[in-house]
Amino acid sequence: MIDVYQASSQARVNAALEPLFVAPSPELARLYEAMRYSVMNGGKRVRPLLAYAACEALGVDAAQANGAACAVELIHAYSLVHDDLPAMDDDDLRRGQPTTHKAFDEACAILAGDGLQSLAFSALLDPRLSGVNAEIRLRMVTALASAAGPAGMVGGQAIDLGSVGLKLDQQALEYMHRHKTGALIEAAVHLGALASGRAEAAQLAALQTYARAIGLAFQVQDDILDVESDTATLGKRQGADIARDKPTYPSLLGLEAAKAYALELRDQALAALRPFDAAAEPLRDLARYIVERRH
Ligand code: IPE
Ligand code: IPE
Ligand code: MG
Ligand code: MG
Ligand code: MG
Repeated sequence: MIDVYQASSQARVNAALEPLFVAPSPELARLYEAMRYSVMNGGKRVRPLLAYAACEALGVDAAQANGAACAVELIHAYSLVHDDLPAMDDDDLRRGQPTTHKAFDEACAILAGDGLQSLAFSALLDPRLSGVNAEIRLRMVTALASAAGPAGMVGGQAIDLGSVGLKLDQQALEYMHRHKTGALIEAAVHLGALASGRAEAAQLAALQTYARAIGLAFQVQDDILDVESDTATLGKRQGADIARDKPTYPSLLGLEAAKAYALELRDQALAALRPFDAAAEPLRDLARYIVERRH
């Protein structure tokens, strides 16, 4: 079920993303090519899937969440381009291909990331990608800015880079993960729900509880896969965290306890969806997928 849902949702978001990378003039061809390379390269599209599934959970067609889906994937892709830079994680492989700074050059990768971040907000404001009113659009922009920025993903990345070689306790590790990865995943669900145009406060609160749990679970699983998967399956270098002495859940708790924690978070997420009917099934499937995925 998740495979079919994933394939159709990936196709939907890819079709919405593709037109964003047409260079407005020949002078900008290389920059646009670098942005396209960084996005249209086979990501799993988990964040767009979450946005679509949240919109559907509220009984509205997923296409209404196209702006939200594009926006969260564009922020995510930008975060990966910068995450891989030599000054950050210094990785050569991403989604099975050379990282953007390897395929182009460092300055181009920095600018491509910057450009993707702006495109994300443009996508959220594009009336062709979502029909919600101005008030809801403003709430979406506010939520995305907060999740992507220094109090969200960027803040988490700063903590991550400041933690190399340190032994964080579980509370500090959780704080880092909730920021660097959880914040954008929470935003994906929140934006998708807002895109429905009919999210009530109690529903938003339940969806936030769901998203908080899977947001953390997603990075716990990412840490687990860094230990026990392989480079070909991951499409990025296995063992990168260990090589760089990053604090992770497996390094703190051990592999088995980290896995048990991921499952506990999945159960918390599923419990939060109890008030929802069958329309929330894709969200339930995604919670299971996030802790079972092999890449
Ligand atoms: C990897 O994200 C980086 C993290 C935030 C853990 P994904 O595992 O979603 O990567 P893609 O988008 O599928 O490449
Ligand atoms: C990435 O965390 C978080 C963001 C990009 C915001 P990681 O550094 O663990 O991601 P991977 O393992 O390189 O994909
Ligand atoms: Mg990193
Ligand atoms: Mg990294
Ligand atoms: Mg990782």
